Amino acid sequence: MTFLGHKLGGHHCRFNGSAVQRRLYQNFTVPLPISTNSRSAIVLARQMPPTVGKYGPMSEFRKTAETFTAGAKTLPQRYFVSPEIFAQEQQRIFSARWLCVGHQNHIPAAGQYFTASAAGESLIIVRDQAGSVHGFYNVCRHRGTRLCEEKTGHVRETIRCPYHAWTYGLDGRLLGAPHMDKVVGFDKAEYSLQSVNLALWEGFIFINLAEAPAPLETDFARLAGKFRHWNLPKLRSARRIEYGVRANWKLIFENYSECYHCPLVHPALSKLTPYDSAENDLCEGPFLGGFMPIIKGQSLTMSGNACALPVGDIKAEDHHRVFYYSIFPNMLLSMHPDYVMVHQVWPEAPDQVTILCDWFFHPDAFSRPDFHPDDAIAFWDMTNRQDWHVCELSQQGIASRAYRPGPYSPRESIPAAWDREYLRALGSISDSILSYADIKSDHHQR
Ligand code: FES
Ligand SMILES: [Fe+2]
Repeated sequence: MTFLGHKLGGHHCRFNGSAVQRRLYQNFTVPLPISTNSRSAIVLARQMPPTVGKYGPMSEFRKTAETFTAGAKTLPQRYFVSPEIFAQEQQRIFSARWLCVGHQNHIPAAGQYFTASAAGESLIIVRDQAGSVHGFYNVCRHRGTRLCEEKTGHVRETIRCPYHAWTYGLDGRLLGAPHMDKVVGFDKAEYSLQSVNLALWEGFIFINLAEAPAPLETDFARLAGKFRHWNLPKLRSARRIEYGVRANWKLIFENYSECYHCPLVHPALSKLTPYDSAENDLCEGPFLGGFMPIIKGQSLTMSGNACALPVGDIKAEDHHRVFYYSIFPNMLLSMHPDYVMVHQVWPEAPDQVTILCDWFFHPDAFSRPDFHPDDAIAFWDMTNRQDWHVCELSQQGIASRAYRPGPYSPRESIPAAWDREYLRALGSISDSILSYADIKSDHHQR
């Protein structure tokens, strides 16, 4: 490999001599080549039988209040404010679990990439010429320099470090290292980019920072085939909005998991989906949620009309339902008949969270005259902001010396279940001894 020793462009990483093209997460026009890897992941997922696991059978919907555990209370203050607990979460949860970082359709063409940040690590997610998606630590093998600063971009064939021009292939191999041939014993094969565990689930890209995590297919076995009707691997993103919220990340999950707050906080949403109508089929464990009926003939949009083709081959009754699931620890999956909304939740500090919200549609919807994505995006942008506001108010009150854990209502069975799963994941309390007696005594010791 020859030395690409011409002047490098400021502090941006450059690739094969061409400047990075910044791209918006909007209106991709490149057709999606589903990689061999992603195809096999999808096929594998579809072949796995529905699971009857420790959390009970699938697809048995129960009213929210029916799964409420009496005595459930909100978490003690320290879980929302303590830097030590935040550090434990980063280590035991965000460095140990499969985390959603995007969708394969965010990088449909060879050379497209985005960067993600997880547990303080910056990662490059890139599609190679063969169509496979790779994940690498965004760290040069020479002197450690950050390789890519942009959130998203498109390279030709290589990733070049902006410092001394070491150059890597899209599969991570070190291809060029100027003047290093003079170093006795130097072998390029020993200096590939460090890869991060990466897997696809229903078209979504997940990474795992653990050294040897359980395969995603094992962790997600309970969801195998469950969302097939929504056509998730093929959907295309129309928009991303990034939110910064001054609240603990757990408040976002707790808020998402109940509609007790809907009449007051979301008057428009409440007209379209009765707040007390939720039925859940996943009521304990890392995946929680179910559906809420949508008033017949309506859609969750500003106009109340459907804004696009149905996203998939949706069952008749599901044309009047919106399905809400939380995927522990960082994904919220909201499946409507005409679009799918996904939130990624990224803790930044005990009282700060970044939320990335994407809206996905059927790929054929984009070219049709009845495609009105803004009708849905504006509706949920409004609803999101209403939620973030009350989450920030919660954070403010929870930080007070006056705060004490409060009782959850029967309409909050799912946030209570989410808290239990969180405590299990944190290792604060083990599965076998988890009871509200423990949590209550924990409260008194505060
Ligand atoms: S630090 Fe990357 S080439 Fe020197
Ligand atoms: Fe809400």
